[in-house]
Amino acid sequence: MLEKITVVGAGNVGATTAQRLAEKELARRVVLVDVIEGVPQGKALDQWESASIEGFDTRVIGANDYAPAAGSELVVVTAGIARKPGMSRDDLVRTNADIVKQVSQQIKQHCPQAIVVVVSNPLDVMCWVTKQVTGFARERVIGMAGVLDTARYRAFLAEALDVSVEDIQAMVLGGHGDTMVPLVSYTTVSGIPVSQLLDKATLDKIVDRTRNGGAEIVAFLKTGSAYYAPSAAVTQMVEAIVRDKKRLLPCAAWLQGEYGLSGMYCGVPCKLGARGLEQILEVKLTPEEAAALRKSAEAVKETMAAVKI
Ligand code: NAI
Ligand code: 2OP
Repeated sequence: MLEKITVVGAGNVGATTAQRLAEKELARRVVLVDVIEGVPQGKALDQWESASIEGFDTRVIGANDYAPAAGSELVVVTAGIARKPGMSRDDLVRTNADIVKQVSQQIKQHCPQAIVVVVSNPLDVMCWVTKQVTGFARERVIGMAGVLDTARYRAFLAEALDVSVEDIQAMVLGGHGDTMVPLVSYTTVSGIPVSQLLDKATLDKIVDRTRNGGAEIVAFLKTGSAYYAPSAAVTQMVEAIVRDKKRLLPCAAWLQGEYGLSGMYCGVPCKLGARGLEQILEVKLTPEEAAALRKSAEAVKETMAAVKI
C-alpha cells in the first residue's frame, strides 16, 4: 500500500477512479484535486462516508490546491474536458494540452518522485505533454488507453463466442484513436487462436466496433464519455504498480526505437511494476499489423504537431 495517491480531475473518470482505488486500499490516502470549488471536497467526503459500508480505511480527501497532494508517490491525471458528440478526440487537443501543462507543473513541484498515469485525451499527446513539462523519465510517465481498448475488445469477443470474458487473452496497441490496432494474431480463447473460432467477417466487425468503442458510449450518453471501464482500467494499472505485480499490459509508453518508432507515445506491450514502466516488449507483428501500427503512430504525430509546449 502506498502512502498517498493523487487523482487530478474530480469529474466522471477521476472521481470513479478515486473510489475504486480507495475500495482496493491501494494507498492510505487518496487525494482528489479539481479546479471547481466544492466538487472534489464533496465527492471525497461522500466516498469516505462509504468506507464503513464497503470496508476500507483509505481516507479520501478533496482539494482545490496541491498542498494535500504533496509527496504523492503516484498521480493519475484525468483533468480536461471530455469528448462531446460529434467531437473527435483530437478536437480536444489544444484545450486539454493547456490544462495538462498546468497540472504537470504542479506535479513537478509538489510530487517530484511520483509515477504519473495519464488519462486525459488525446491520450498519447497528453502523455508527451506531461513528460516534457515534468521532465520525468519515461519509466514514470505512462498512459492509460490500451487496457481500456483491450477490455472493450475482450467484452465484444466474449459476447460473440458466448464464453467468459476472463478466458479472452488479447492486446490492443497503437494510439488511442480510430487507428488503434487490435492484435488479432495474438488473440486467444484459453490458448485457442480466435481465428479458429470466429470467421474473418465477424472478427473484422469486432475490430471495427473496438476502434469506435469510445464514440459508441458518447453517442449514448450525449453529455460526456465513458468512465466505468476507463476507471477500472486505470485502477488495474495502478494496482500493478503499487503491488509490484510485473503485469504485461498494453500502455502508452515513450518510444525510443521500439517498433521502429521514437520521440512519441504509442500503445505497446509494457511490464508494469514498482518502478512504473519496467520494460517494453517487442513482439513480432504480421505485416498488416505492423503497417496498421505505423499508420496509428502517424496519426499521433499529426496531433502532436498541433501542440506547442
Ligand atoms: P469530466 O469533464 O467529467 O471531468 C474532467 C474534470 O477535470 C472536471 O471536473 C474539470 O473541472 C477538471 N479540470 C479541468 N481543468 C482542470 C485543472 N486545470 N486542474 C484540475 N482539474 C481540472 O471528464 P471525464 O469524463 O472525467 O474525462 C476526463 C478526461 O479523460 C477527458 O479528457 C477524457 O477525454 C479522458 N478520457 C480518456 C480515456 C482514455 O482511455 N485515455 C477514457 C475516458 C476518458
Ligand atoms: C474513450 O475511449 C473517451 O477516450 C475515451 O471512451
